[in-house]
Amino acid sequence: MSTASFPQGFVWGVSTSAFQIEGATSADGRGPSIWDTFSSDRAEACDHYHRYPEDVRLMKDLEMAAYRFSVSWTRVLPDGGKVNPAGLDFYDRLVDELLAAGITPYANLYHWDLPQALEDAGGWPSRETAHRFADYAAVVGERLGDRVDTWFTVNEPWVAAFLGYGSGIHAPGRKSAADAFTSAHHLLLAHGLAAEALRAGGAAKIGAVVNISPVMTPAQVSDFDRPLSEEDAEAVARIDALANRQFLDPLLRGEYPADLLPVIERAAGLDHIHDGDLAVIARPMDVLGINYYAPLVVQAQPSEPADPAFPGSEGILFCTVPTAVTAMGWPIVPNCLSLLLGRISREYPAIDLMITENGADFVDVVTGDGIHDVDRINFIEEHLRALRAAIADGARVRGYLVWTLLDNLEWSDGYQRKFGLVHVDFATQRRRLKDSALWYRDVIRRNGLADTRPKRPTLETVAARARVSRATVSRVVNGEASVSPEVRTAVLQAVQELGYVPNAAARSLVTRRTNTIALVLSVPRNGGDPLTAAVVQYVTSMLEGAGKHITLMLADTAESHRRIVQHVEARLVDGVILLPPDRADTLAERLSRTGVPIVLLGKPAVASLVPYVDVDNAGGAAAATEHLLARGRGRIGMICGPMDLVTVQDRLAGHRTALRRAGAQPLLAVAADLDRAAGAAAARQLLGDNPSLDAVLAATDQLAIGALRAAREAGRRVPADLAIVGFDDIDAASATTPALTTVRVPVADQALALARLLLSRLEGRHTTSVVLPTRLVVRESS
Ligand code: FCB
Repeated sequence: MSTASFPQGFVWGVSTSAFQIEGATSADGRGPSIWDTFSSDRAEACDHYHRYPEDVRLMKDLEMAAYRFSVSWTRVLPDGGKVNPAGLDFYDRLVDELLAAGITPYANLYHWDLPQALEDAGGWPSRETAHRFADYAAVVGERLGDRVDTWFTVNEPWVAAFLGYGSGIHAPGRKSAADAFTSAHHLLLAHGLAAEALRAGGAAKIGAVVNISPVMTPAQVSDFDRPLSEEDAEAVARIDALANRQFLDPLLRGEYPADLLPVIERAAGLDHIHDGDLAVIARPMDVLGINYYAPLVVQAQPSEPADPAFPGSEGILFCTVPTAVTAMGWPIVPNCLSLLLGRISREYPAIDLMITENGADFVDVVTGDGIHDVDRINFIEEHLRALRAAIADGARVRGYLVWTLLDNLEWSDGYQRKFGLVHVDFATQRRRLKDSALWYRDVIRRNGLADTRPKRPTLETVAARARVSRATVSRVVNGEASVSPEVRTAVLQAVQELGYVPNAAARSLVTRRTNTIALVLSVPRNGGDPLTAAVVQYVTSMLEGAGKHITLMLADTAESHRRIVQHVEARLVDGVILLPPDRADTLAERLSRTGVPIVLLGKPAVASLVPYVDVDNAGGAAAATEHLLARGRGRIGMICGPMDLVTVQDRLAGHRTALRRAGAQPLLAVAADLDRAAGAAAARQLLGDNPSLDAVLAATDQLAIGALRAAREAGRRVPADLAIVGFDDIDAASATTPALTTVRVPVADQALALARLLLSRLEGRHTTSVVLPTRLVVRESS
């Protein structure tokens, strides 16, 4: 097997679900489901109920081996009780059509469309629903069992339980932690009972489908092995229990995770878990379906309230991460697929696995010669590479099903989401293959990936198609008047045909923008600080990812200020990110008067209407001070940095507020600079002036490291005699002896907020300043 090919017999196909594609919601006696009640969108979807022969033909043309569809419970049992033969007939026809096309049918019994009648009788929080589901499974099994190869019981019980009954963003829209946990258990039980019913009817292969998301911290997204602090490790484990192990452990080990039971008990009690349930849930399955889309990225954040979709997640922050995302905003991390498959293979008893869903929503551009959805192709290709690597490492994955065949009705998000390999024009129901469909057909044909990847159309491709030089394309793209109308038309046509629209140059074609952002660094002192440098680096790569060019400008003299203002006035840039100087200065105001959108990194020294992104310096210093007070430290000295720094002023203010609340007096020393030597000098002064000093809070980690040195020289043991706390959580903070307690500032989140703020301003939206939370990281020094 070459590195790009898959094992012989590997199954390729697609997945869909009934409510998302069938339409015909009142045809032939179908009853209402909770999604008919909940959804505000037109319910025709793709009218697959009537057009299934065309859709099966499409799959045949694309040479698919398998098709996972879901059966609509309310077509079969309109009110949850009485059988509607006409509803069953539809699935009969569909299965026959598939078999005639040489496509193996995989029937999925529950893809979230509970009969409304059963919801009215209690829904999934009621145990009875699990028994009704088993009855339904028996009915469908009896009718289709002679022809259906593989049965899946429930799809993504986490989503059905926690989005349906916890956060309420899915049908039926209930918001109760207790209902969410009981629903989750009853969905698992429903799987077990349905599997028994199907088996009794002679079904050959049976499985459940779970959505699995590796859980990690922001730093781990690019470095899976990155070691975690104790609090972050606990946060990761808790979310992993809620999202993944809550389902994997009962299904594959016949038990709930020990660390999850107290969380369930607190929210819902444990009475709904009856003796014997877990044995039913864990009866051997033949295949486990795994849906993978994106990781869950979290970190410990003491004050954070629980997310209603994850009851019990108090003190955990769900983070945005600076990676590429799909149009849905889901981070694209293909290697997570290998990670999760490796983990399941290692930690659970051997079972055949199947990727039952994986795919992506991207904005598609319909051009004269097709839909060139390169992003979707890249997404699937990268995930297939990750899958191939996992198989090479021993994961028993037997097949891969793309989500999904058709653009469809994406639940609460309606029709705006485009996950299909096939484009659907919802006005006419016309189906059109996207490039990804043809590309996937080729993957299936060769049972693997090609060595070369499809390329995004470039300036060269456009030039070749329009038969002009690259410079001419560039002139047209930049709106220069020197190009003749005929040439312009030819270039624009080539741009259109090739689907060159989404890239940076083409966007400037529409907006007449320069697509350039000026990044103005006001003073070297700030620009030289490693955390600021990291934010600047992140924000640059994010804006470049959004198709912008970045021009770096240094504002260190009056002359440079004049030049920068002139540059912006001349509209040579679309927007400005400015690091305001420490001292009062008018550059931000002068720039904002040019009318070009501007945002600041850090709060400016003079109050201004220009929006900024900053971190909660005062809150962080207050939390650090409270921590010291709580540990019984009564005489706390603060080492401030140069007082013209706004950050230092804010940190001092937070410290003072916390002291005032506790009725304690401030003891201050001002360091002349921000380096370690200045920190050591200030600490010596504090220790000399206050012999009973028992703690030091430094305005930065560098100053704190200097204080550690001064304490050692003075023979004071840290933390026994003197606790020391820093601010910033620079890399060095965890490497000192003892390791430094400090306040972490969210570097990546600052960059993300800054990029978002600027992009919203460019779109003319009203924006306000953003202050991001900081977080105390307790280590040995306090
Ligand atoms: C999965 C669902 C599927 C679709 C995709 C995008 O969670 O199973 O119906 O919504 O996400």
